[in-house]
Amino acid sequence: MCGIIGIVSLKESKKLAEMTVSALKRLEYRGYDSVGVASVSSSGLEIRKAKGKVEEVVLHKKIEEMEGYVFLGHTRWATHGAPTDYNAHPHTDCNGNIAVVHNGTIKNYKELREELESLGHKFKSETDTEVIPHLIEEFMKRGMDPFQAFKSAIKSLDGSYAVLAVISGERRIFFAKRDNPLIIGLGEGQNFIASDIPAFLPYTKRILVIRDDELGFVTPETVYLEDKDGNVVNIKERIRIVDWDIETASKEGYPHFMIKEIHESPRAVKDTIDSLMSDIDLIEKVIEEIKNAERIIIIGAGTSYHAGLYFSIELNRLGINSIPLIASEYYNVKNKKGDLVFAISQSGETIDVLQGIRMMKNNGAKIVSLTNVIESAIARESDYKIYMRAGPEIGVAATKTFTTQLASILFILSILKKDNLKKIEKAPDIVRDTISQVEGLTKKIGEELAKKSNIYYLGRGLSLPLAMEGALKIKEIAYVHAEAYPAGESKHGPISLVEKGFPVVIINDGEMTELLQNNLMEMKARGARIYAISVNKKMKDADVGIELQSEIPALSIAPVIQLIAYYAAITKGYDPDKPRNLAKTVTVE
Ligand code: F6R
Repeated sequence: MCGIIGIVSLKESKKLAEMTVSALKRLEYRGYDSVGVASVSSSGLEIRKAKGKVEEVVLHKKIEEMEGYVFLGHTRWATHGAPTDYNAHPHTDCNGNIAVVHNGTIKNYKELREELESLGHKFKSETDTEVIPHLIEEFMKRGMDPFQAFKSAIKSLDGSYAVLAVISGERRIFFAKRDNPLIIGLGEGQNFIASDIPAFLPYTKRILVIRDDELGFVTPETVYLEDKDGNVVNIKERIRIVDWDIETASKEGYPHFMIKEIHESPRAVKDTIDSLMSDIDLIEKVIEEIKNAERIIIIGAGTSYHAGLYFSIELNRLGINSIPLIASEYYNVKNKKGDLVFAISQSGETIDVLQGIRMMKNNGAKIVSLTNVIESAIARESDYKIYMRAGPEIGVAATKTFTTQLASILFILSILKKDNLKKIEKAPDIVRDTISQVEGLTKKIGEELAKKSNIYYLGRGLSLPLAMEGALKIKEIAYVHAEAYPAGESKHGPISLVEKGFPVVIINDGEMTELLQNNLMEMKARGARIYAISVNKKMKDADVGIELQSEIPALSIAPVIQLIAYYAAITKGYDPDKPRNLAKTVTVE
């Protein structure tokens, strides 16, 4: 997930550089690894870019002094290629006449790069994006006009993209979109195009949302748009006026980042699966390591520990010896050579995970990391780095990144079990369908649970880590005490608390319905109010039930427990994005 901005104006001025910088600051939440700007002026195309945050790069590269009538800006969330100066966008063709910024992932970039290199093109970065300016250059060399060349380049791509391209001497910005956002802002004598509305909101409120597989170009006074079949689109009917302020707009109209990020999960899961597919060689090497290891230790904290527990249960079921390890308790494990450690961490910076892998590495273990933040400390210290690429998560509570952790684990397991990948490819749709089905009921449950002081979340087998995650989520953002228990274990003590109206949430992924049904009845007999979240199997006698059909139950249950927690928090008037006493990244032991 990166942020992109383009401005095209009738006037050539430095003011555009300032506007680009201010747009980049508002886009920085989408990525903060490196920053770059391209300008087209009467003297040609100029690029200034470097690793670092917007403020640092702007100062260091004197970006506000750039002049021109067309500007492109990019703030990067590294996917292909480390966050370095040369991997920063914009990327150019061989002669520096074409500049491109991109948000997304090009799956077939390796093939395209090989082909272009065989034709003599020289690449300067490790990114997937760089194939795009070279493709445009190649098609122009073959006699196409700039727009035809841009269209042909886009046609060659397999993957997801919001792409902007500029060419020296041209007063227009070419654009194309598939699966990543792109919005045009219509100004007076100048037009804008960006990843989101806040980027240009101080300058215009007239917007045009680009749809998947549309492409075209923007000039200072016009927009030319083609649909996926190449028909010209009449943009007048699609122009909207937004009355949002910047704060509302950066949440894309959602009241909080948490709910926005839950709704982003299908897209995030798609990015995860696409990127794992394109890194299949790495996954296969990791599978070999799993097969050769004596023991797999899976370490993580909080939500990441729950994802790790899920993974560990699955591995043990396959006969692979695995231990789930709460990161802050790492020192209790005596590990040895032959162990393979899986470190799971959204931020890649959680100190307990880092200390744990350092200790285990010293004792001879190999480390595989699964992180969201590229080149984070944990990733840097690992032998194998797997990235989820869910995009930045602003809400303190992990939501879309838990779902993408599960998706990554399920992907690795599919390869390990030699399953057909068709099922995991459906993951984004499964998450999307679930969210659209359950919003109403999860709100009702959240509103009810908000009034309680204590809740049990019960699960068995693979439902247990999901129950644990459900309890953590409602506890941390709605401040309701919630405890997760293996449903069978609940009879060994916890049940003594249950009396009339005590809320019990039963999570059933469809595997152990009969046993869970017995546990449900035991709770019910003591007056508990039962909330059953059940996938593929019906549960009887629940007071409130969410019943789902899903080919991948975990990926349906994850958004349900998150939505329940969200609605409980807002019912109580709390800000779910900033729960008290919590930090997004815990860097002290
Ligand atoms: C819960 C939550 C935390 C984190 C934990 C680990 O919603 O966000 O429990 O999961 O602090 O953080 P990472 O995954 O960054 O290591």
